[in-house]
Amino acid sequence: KKISIIGVPMDLGQTRRGVDMGPSAMRYAGVIDRLQQLNHIVVDRGDIEIGRPPKYDIKNDDNLKDLEEVVKANQSLAESVADVIDEGDFPLVLGGDHSIAIGTLAGVAKKYENLGVIWYDAHGDLNTGETSPSGNIHGMPLAVSLGIGHPTLTEIGGYAPKIKPENIVIIGARSLDDGEKDLIHEKGIKVYTMHEIDRMGMTLVMEEAIKHVTRNTDGVHLSLDLDALDPQHAPGVGTPVVGGTTYREAHLAMEMLAERNIISSAEFVEVNPILDVKNQTAEAAVGLIGSLFGEKLL
Ligand code: ARG
Ligand code: MN
Ligand code: MN
Ligand code: MN
Repeated sequence: KKISIIGVPMDLGQTRRGVDMGPSAMRYAGVIDRLQQLNHIVVDRGDIEIGRPPKYDIKNDDNLKDLEEVVKANQSLAESVADVIDEGDFPLVLGGDHSIAIGTLAGVAKKYENLGVIWYDAHGDLNTGETSPSGNIHGMPLAVSLGIGHPTLTEIGGYAPKIKPENIVIIGARSLDDGEKDLIHEKGIKVYTMHEIDRMGMTLVMEEAIKHVTRNTDGVHLSLDLDALDPQHAPGVGTPVVGGTTYREAHLAMEMLAERNIISSAEFVEVNPILDVKNQTAEAAVGLIGSLFGEKLL
């Protein structure tokens, strides 16, 4: 594959500084070498420019923090991602907090009529300004991409919605707010919480998930939030939740996606080196990227 890397040093979708260093940490952990060793051609397109608010973490009247800068960055990310696809490359986006999925999906969905999405995350990220307990936009990107939320966010890229509820599968959820649960039921979104992963095992979960997102779709985006992993394996994240997927379960999921070769774009988000232990979380991310792009144990 020809893979184009886009870094998004964004930390304005939440309030814990440091996640803006995620792209550097994953580059330092050897993401480019790792992919080249698998015989992929890798182009590093550098980082998207992120604005700096005069004062951090200011909520507007709609319970949205640092809205202006988040919107600007996602607009330009959407353009870069669409360019990468136009040139025939695979877009690999490195975050940054999860608010950047708004821009990634705005760019990707422009190029796919019926995009499937695998949302591998401890959270649903299905909040709006009305339902969010925090006002943090990183808890909203999946709702925004469904066209639900503040128009300034849903209209990024110049169109809405980006994706359809029936083309989404959430894997690894264990922290859902009340408004998110309501939306999941209302829209009939497929969710494999930790309960189903425990009960069915990751193999069956992934087999069903792959079936679900490939049913009527022409591409599948993987949005992987490192907090889906148990904090034991990924301590460097801003919103850790106990009881997550193991290191091997996460790798198995990536290996199965590689085997089926269904993923057409991907992003790895929420790596925060300030909260990390010796870059362990960035290294976990790069390991998962290796498995997603075909690395095998034997
Ligand atoms: N549900 C919480 C919120 O809306 C946490 C979201 C965490 N999202 C993430 N991408 N880590 O604030
Ligand atoms: Mn589309
Ligand atoms: Mn999360
Ligand atoms: Mn997330």
